[in-house]
Amino acid sequence: MNLHEAPHLQVAARLKLRVVSRAKIARNIVAFEFEAADYLSLPAFEAGAHLEIDCDGLARQYSLCSDPADAKRYRVAVQHDEEGRGGSRFMCERVQVGDTLDALGPRNHFPMTMAPLPPLLISGGIGITPMLSMAWSLHAAGARFALHDFAAAPERQAFVDEIARAPWSANVTRHLGRCDDFAPLIGGFEAGRHLYVCGPFAMIDAVLDTARALGWSDDHLHCERFAAPSSTGREAPARARLPFDVELASTGRRVSVAVGQSVCAALADAGVHVPMSCEQGVCGSCITRVLDGVPDHRDWILSTEEQASGKVFTPCCSRSKTPLLVLDL
Ligand code: FES
Repeated sequence: MNLHEAPHLQVAARLKLRVVSRAKIARNIVAFEFEAADYLSLPAFEAGAHLEIDCDGLARQYSLCSDPADAKRYRVAVQHDEEGRGGSRFMCERVQVGDTLDALGPRNHFPMTMAPLPPLLISGGIGITPMLSMAWSLHAAGARFALHDFAAAPERQAFVDEIARAPWSANVTRHLGRCDDFAPLIGGFEAGRHLYVCGPFAMIDAVLDTARALGWSDDHLHCERFAAPSSTGREAPARARLPFDVELASTGRRVSVAVGQSVCAALADAGVHVPMSCEQGVCGSCITRVLDGVPDHRDWILSTEEQASGKVFTPCCSRSKTPLLVLDL
């Protein structure tokens, strides 16, 4: 991959969006439609793309779930998380029709590859959202596909009517309850058949582990995570106990990163602000180029290839294997 063209480094447009509809579409899930506040058309987006919406000072990413061929409106769905850090509460409790929101995007960290064999899409809960734009794109391309969507209970199934009305609904199988064995759904590996999964962390891991056990190669497996696991399992105790420095390539200034401090926090203390959203290594907002040094990756968003390249890292959670990292800042 040419990292200069990597989706994680895409520049996003600044948008002003007017809310033209909001509707509760399942328990704790609210769907919003947006138009451009200046009544002009919106930037085109590709299946899998998301918006980063300013939720009263918190940057939060929501997958676009509308048809990418419709340039007039964007649609997202938000799961109301009472225990969250406030983004979904702002969207679900305060945002009303007629309000204007600031946003960045669209950016795509979950792009789809048009391949010769029908792809397999698997979603759980709110993870259905990027799959809808993928389904519209695949349908428009005349491609066959299979979408398996899982929900814990009927009242938690989102987009029931919309999917039933869609011209591609025959490709969708909706499942209730937990899946204990994804192997029959996934099947054996065939080159050119890609798998996309989005949903709860444990479900994504179960799907990916099953696919790998069935012989699927990593370059055919694609996932989007909305949150990191409660325990990341990625701690490297020896290195984590070491401070290091980062250098801003533009000025040569060095900033010390203390034990227990993130690179973003150290930079913020020094007056340098890197865009952030999840602060967990899953959203990609903070991805920064590394010009020298070896990053110690703790994220869940960069591909194996991008991590191995050492040319980008997530300063919200990742650290350094070398005493100094030179950053393209
Ligand atoms: S802020 Fe989300 S990956 Fe760093």
